[in-house]
Amino acid sequence: MFDFLDYKINSKVILAPMAGYTFYSYRKFMQEFGVGISYSEMVSDHGLIYENLNTLSYLKTDDNEHPFGIQLFGHDSKTIKKAIDIIKKENVKCDFIDLNLACPVKKVTKNGAGSALLKDLDYLKDFISDIVNYSPYPITCKIRLGFDDDNLNFKQVIKILQSCGVKLIAIHARSAKQMYSGKPHYELLENIKSLVNIPLIVSGDIFTLDDAINALKITNADGVMIARGGVGNPHLITQINTYFKDGTRLEDATLEMQKEYCLKLAKMMVLDKGEEQAMKLFRSIGPHFFKGFANSKKIRINIASKITTFKELEEEVKNFQTK
Ligand SMILES: Cc1cc2nc3c(=O)[nH]c(=O)nc-3n(C[C@H](O)[C@H](O)[C@H](O)COP(=O)(O)O)c2cc1C
Repeated sequence: MFDFLDYKINSKVILAPMAGYTFYSYRKFMQEFGVGISYSEMVSDHGLIYENLNTLSYLKTDDNEHPFGIQLFGHDSKTIKKAIDIIKKENVKCDFIDLNLACPVKKVTKNGAGSALLKDLDYLKDFISDIVNYSPYPITCKIRLGFDDDNLNFKQVIKILQSCGVKLIAIHARSAKQMYSGKPHYELLENIKSLVNIPLIVSGDIFTLDDAINALKITNADGVMIARGGVGNPHLITQINTYFKDGTRLEDATLEMQKEYCLKLAKMMVLDKGEEQAMKLFRSIGPHFFKGFANSKKIRINIASKITTFKELEEEVKNFQTK
């Protein structure tokens, strides 16, 4: 459906980077449903430079995960370049490096990183050019509409990024001030694709097939990013891709499908992270598989707060009934 680097991307769905979620096994699980491009969780340039073990674990990938990008955040092109050196030294099989110009969290923006980079476009231009010229990996960027609602400068930003040689841009259709709430402003992104000739992806509140249809219709983007909407609902990826292939509207996943997906992801996470850590991480993911099903409150609470082993999870899931 669109070309990205040397790949033909046969999917409308890109897996959004999400700290605490898009680790290796989560991405591998989601890829089987038809993800076109995936990203690591955001990785701190300083964390990599100091070879923090936890940070290095974010780089995990394998030979079959393509195209895959490591997302970096930082404020200074010198430290980003050093982080890229570490990625190269570690021989990470990533296809691109994504620069996070979107994160609204204080801990990140107070150091001038993430969405704070949208505040000074002269600085941004030098920052991006320096990295693009240095990096052996192609560079992509993820942005917000702007830092706050009085400075929605995304049109200028995407032109600057393209002129610097960035190979793909993803836009989260909210300002950084909005954090993750309030409606995404797709109306401001009308035909935004016509402003650039590199792949353009849009993000924000893609929870249903119709959300994806609507976002793509307004923006003419090459694809949508699935973030919160895909957690516990991987079938959404299949629904979107099937619709754009032949117009078929697939039904939502049944309870039996959700049970199978839930256990499959948990098993993959156990292999990836060990049972203890996997089950901890699963507390924020697992309950979403049962959202919207009748009488699911108990199973959701149990997964979120009680379950510590895969066996317990399996029992809980197998015994769950809506009646
Ligand atoms: C828990 C969480 C973690 C996130 N982590 C990142 C991140 O590491 N890097 C990034 O660029 N965006 C991150 N995002 C933003 C998402 O990629 C996405 O753009 C945003 O959630 C909007 O999509 P949604 O409304 O469909 O969730 C995160 C979002 C959430 C909810």
